[in-house]
Amino acid sequence: MPAIQYSPGVRHDLEEILLTETQIQRRLDELGKEMERDYAGRDLTMIAVLTGSVLFAADLLRRLPLQVRLDCLGISSYHGQTRSSGEVTVTKSLHLDVRDREVLVVDDILDTGLTLVRIREMLGKLGPRSLKFAVFLEKEVPHHENFRADYVAFRIPNKFVVGYGLDYLERYRNLPYVGTLKPSVYESHGSAL
Ligand code: IMP
Ligand code: MG
Repeated sequence: MPAIQYSPGVRHDLEEILLTETQIQRRLDELGKEMERDYAGRDLTMIAVLTGSVLFAADLLRRLPLQVRLDCLGISSYHGQTRSSGEVTVTKSLHLDVRDREVLVVDDILDTGLTLVRIREMLGKLGPRSLKFAVFLEKEVPHHENFRADYVAFRIPNKFVVGYGLDYLERYRNLPYVGTLKPSVYESHGSAL
């Protein structure tokens, strides 16, 4: 299949590529195998945290030859800015019952840890048999909430990144790789987006 040609307005907004598509897909092969071993013979309920985890969740799902139920949890914690606001609101609640289930929450990035701490509190009250967390990225910041993910695909420097589900003002999620944006993109602040 020929490589997708992104319009210059997308590809040329990137300053640096941190993770290539090949690096991501190879790492997911490893992570998928690890999960397959850990959940062998168990019935898994995967909860994808919207919206940033959709590519990660989809790529993980197709690597898991297990019985998997999928649900999505809508969480908003960013409000269009590049820093955590400290507030977390549920924008889409769960559809599946998680009581007594093996639950694996899948999210895009562990930054301050606030979002996942809140999700752990919420889901913990619903009585899952087990509750684990997989994140595509973890930033090298001191996590004030001291949250530890069970699976981390990549650890990255403390920079704002886009691609592979991660957005800036809801754009760039569709890139199959991860990178940083040029300062000019922030300067124009979405007027050209
Ligand atoms: P938290 O600070 O760990 O609660 O992360 C909250 C959310 O902020 C993540 O789920 C992402 O949606 C968003 N976020 C954090 N860092 C980045 C980034 O570098 N790029 C894009 N979104 C980010
Ligand atoms: Mg998010």
